[in-house]
Amino acid sequence: MQKRILTILCFLSIACCVLAQKTPQHTDAIDGKVDALLAKMTLDEKIGQLNQYTSDRLATGPLTENSSKFQDIKDGKLGSMLNVKGAKETRMVQELAMQSRLKIPLLFGLDIIHGYRVTFPVPLAEAASWDMQAIQTSARVAGKEAAAAGLHWTFAPMVDITRDPRWGRVMEGAGEDPYLASLIAVARVKGFQGNGLGSLDAIMACVKHFAAYGAAIGGRDYNAVDISDRTLWETYLPPFKAALDAGAATFMNSFNELNGIPATGNSYLQRDILKGKWNYKGFVVSDWGSVGEMVQHGYARNSKQAAELAITAGSDMDMESHAYINNLAQLVKENKVPVALIDDAVKRILRKKFEMGLFDDPYRFSNEEREKKELNSPENRTAAREVAKKSIVLLKNDKQLLPLSKNLKTIAVIGPLVKSNIDMMGFWSIKWEGDHLVSLYEGLENKVGKNTRLLYAQGCDVTDTSKSNFAQAVATAMQADVVILAIGEHYDMTGEAKSRANIHVPGVQEDLVKAIKATGKPVVVLTMSGRPMIFNWTADNADAILQTWWLGSEAGNAIADVLFGDYNPAGKLPISFPRSEGQIPVYYNYKSTGRPSTNDMGINYRSGYNDMQNSPRYAFGYGLSYTQFALTDLKLDRTTLTANDKLNISCTLKNTGNYAGEEVVQLYLRDEFASVTRPVKELKGFEKVYLKAGESKIINFVIDKETLSFYDQKMNWATEPGTFQLMIGNSSDHILLKSKFELIK
Ligand code: BGC
Repeated sequence: MQKRILTILCFLSIACCVLAQKTPQHTDAIDGKVDALLAKMTLDEKIGQLNQYTSDRLATGPLTENSSKFQDIKDGKLGSMLNVKGAKETRMVQELAMQSRLKIPLLFGLDIIHGYRVTFPVPLAEAASWDMQAIQTSARVAGKEAAAAGLHWTFAPMVDITRDPRWGRVMEGAGEDPYLASLIAVARVKGFQGNGLGSLDAIMACVKHFAAYGAAIGGRDYNAVDISDRTLWETYLPPFKAALDAGAATFMNSFNELNGIPATGNSYLQRDILKGKWNYKGFVVSDWGSVGEMVQHGYARNSKQAAELAITAGSDMDMESHAYINNLAQLVKENKVPVALIDDAVKRILRKKFEMGLFDDPYRFSNEEREKKELNSPENRTAAREVAKKSIVLLKNDKQLLPLSKNLKTIAVIGPLVKSNIDMMGFWSIKWEGDHLVSLYEGLENKVGKNTRLLYAQGCDVTDTSKSNFAQAVATAMQADVVILAIGEHYDMTGEAKSRANIHVPGVQEDLVKAIKATGKPVVVLTMSGRPMIFNWTADNADAILQTWWLGSEAGNAIADVLFGDYNPAGKLPISFPRSEGQIPVYYNYKSTGRPSTNDMGINYRSGYNDMQNSPRYAFGYGLSYTQFALTDLKLDRTTLTANDKLNISCTLKNTGNYAGEEVVQLYLRDEFASVTRPVKELKGFEKVYLKAGESKIINFVIDKETLSFYDQKMNWATEPGTFQLMIGNSSDHILLKSKFELIK
């Protein structure tokens, strides 16, 4: 036994040394090496560094051209590959690069969006945790696993704000709010990049999609974006800036056009803002084929002009368009593209390769032994279960039906998603390779004791239009003390190119809820999806509802933990859930109008719909707990302040219920009047607090100049004197404490 402990200690200390062993990151030194290498490169070799191909085995977009990729690598015509993965495969491909004249290592990139081998909840679900530590842990585990599998680079975090749940890629982001999303962007970058580039367990983050992709008109993927500069700066850019400040190594541009100019060819975005005003030193990779797609946009005459426009606008690496490799040399010859532009792009890419330590050892991440140990380890699965629990949102709990007692005799588990494991992983989990995914049913079996019987009926499939199996499901429900009903979407119904005009729970699933509810049995509905779905009847009639999203490898265990009270749910929605598609975009930080609705309807010449409320079904920030909390004693240390002062605010949170639990105390501000109108509410702070039953805690917030600043009429980031409403609550639509203060000159 002692020997085993010693071996473990020995292994741990070696592992720590190996991981701590960093490549020198001294910037001047690296700059010198980059310059020396650049001086040896031919123009073709330089252009090669700007070229990225996918592996054909694992394409994540349409394949454009069938080239002899391996020969290109040996010829020094490739800087990076995506979709090559695994210690063995990456080593094999890197060996080809080592046969090139200058032996410049390749970068291997992959979409590691929510876990590599152990799948974590989809990013939108994780955002519902409002728990930065948990989100960072998720990215850390993903980064460690990926780095052990030969990878250098993830195409994440996706930080696109969206106010449109029809957009399939809503699942990849952090929802609708720039403040929350910025914190999450930082947590994810830190998680992926760990102790910094050069550490053996750190991979490069890639912040995407620059920019405003989430504002695709009508929620249709790849669609045009037409927004004001103000909206761009206030709503869409903040998470990118936050990620950059957190040290994000790379950026990806975007498929969409922004106000008439494709993001890939957009100098305003990439040169003026990113590399200019923000002084970004990393490189920008295009999105898949987005250089070439500027032809379809009607912005470039042909692939050659697309290459010219993209490199001029600041896109450094061409993913899968083959536009740079085929045209840049000629464009240089014709004096349309200065070599200096190419040199700048090459230097940015080489610098990252040096920082990653690849020139010291191009195979340093491709270690099969390490890979075996790291991937799908019990610790990684435990982390996934923790994050999954925290991502669940309790939407309804009439008569405190939840948590369920562990002594129930018979539980009916009904619905198309009960036994599915594949749907638990969600979109962008292409790396799941037959590792175990825990279904809801399995999670329940693991949880309940011998004296509890689980009965199962499918009822219908996710997209079924037939109710022929309802009778059997009803008969099953009749035998039970309580029914758990799992409805929602298949894993591939929300994701890239998965936009939907109808976001109601698909098929006849809500009719199944009606049929089961008619039995008179208590019904807990689990809604499983990558997006906000619409389920009004269920919202009105189910006894309890948990939004369980797509929770990944440990989904079933995490849901069972929550259902039976081993974990008290504390998630809060990071995006509004609409009542109808007709309300979209619906978001909490809207503007007032000259005729604001007084009763949440548009009647009497007021702004709104005549046939439906303006408010969403579930608001941003909403989520219940098994316990109750009281918020009292709002105190401000002043009610007037200058821009140089700090306003200290406190309030008391008390757990007045019977369970220990967490609450997210949310602080919103409204700037009552300004030279530019301000939203009715903006999230400016929050704290997630754990309290035992009966316990209280004083919560403190500080408001300063930064909190009160906004883009004024001239688009300067500034404060203006005036009054502010201060609102503290447990949801954007449930404000419990209010006050006012004034900012004076
Ligand atoms: C997506 C990117 C992704 C890339 C590579 C594109 O279709 O828009 O987000 O990183 O493919 O897979």
